[in-house]
Amino acid sequence: MADARPVERPLHERVVVVTGAAKGLGDAIARELAPRCAALLLADLDAERVEAQADRLRAEGRKATAWVADLTDPGSAGALIDVADAEFGGADVLVNNAGIVEYAPLAETSRELFRRLMAVDVESVYFLTQAFADSLRRRESGGCVVNLGTSHALTGVGGTSAYSTAKGAVHAMTRALAVELAPLGIRVNTLALGTTLTERVRSELAPELLRKRMRQIPLARGARPQEAAAAVAYLLDAGFATGTELVLDGGFTVFGDA
Ligand SMILES: NC(=O)c1ccc[n+]([C@@H]2O[C@H](COP(=O)([O-])OP(=O)(O)OC[C@H]3O[C@@H](n4cnc5c(N)ncnc54)[C@H](O)[C@@H]3O)[C@@H](O)[C@H]2O)c1
Repeated sequence: MADARPVERPLHERVVVVTGAAKGLGDAIARELAPRCAALLLADLDAERVEAQADRLRAEGRKATAWVADLTDPGSAGALIDVADAEFGGADVLVNNAGIVEYAPLAETSRELFRRLMAVDVESVYFLTQAFADSLRRRESGGCVVNLGTSHALTGVGGTSAYSTAKGAVHAMTRALAVELAPLGIRVNTLALGTTLTERVRSELAPELLRKRMRQIPLARGARPQEAAAAVAYLLDAGFATGTELVLDGGFTVFGDA
């Protein structure tokens, strides 16, 4: 008997939600996907930059809308998906990119930092995915989710335990939801990134630390944001991939120094 589960539309017909689209990886992902998809909904708490990003894409002839919100606000998930439903007839793709990266040794990790990381990097991803999946279920349409993960969740990097805990939860969430949502025709994958040279990374990593990091990467460089964005595009097209981790880290996690 034929399997009647919902199917995904071709990429050029899909409506894509990118969170954290104002800058860094989210900006690169939006630029990469804009010419390939039907419309983009760009969400961020940085109003000025996310609106400028949507304006720029529209000036290039793309369909793009900015939506300003703090995704840790409990009402924001439903509101964002409602905008996608009302403006574009519903979202087909969710790229959970918005996140914060804050490192501290165990002894210096406060409850406040731990909770902030869990709120932004885990809870908001979880509940936005819930609202997105619910909209797809109601529309009987297939779709896919890409979660931004990290090589830090696959190996042990000292001084990053709270961030690694949060992202590790995202990796586990991906696997469980891939199984749970497969009957709805929804794929869920993680892009596990190593050091990616966004504006934030270039400004936050001290030159000596950056040089040290490069010595731990067999390819001896960080990823370009465009390379990470191309990997997101690959996961959108990879119709048989679900529950997987695509590791893009220049060999960092497989490096064993002799
Ligand atoms: N750059 C790297 O080396 C790297 C490596 C591994 C994983 N990642 C992951 O990739 C993602 C993007 O990283 P980046 O380097 O581009 O960071 P970034 O700080 O440059 O960009 C993050 C964006 O998310 C937005 N954002 C943060 N909190 C938000 C909230 N509560 N509501 C709405 N928007 C919010 C910010 O305003 C910003 O525009 C993060 O999830 C990060 O953990 C990055």
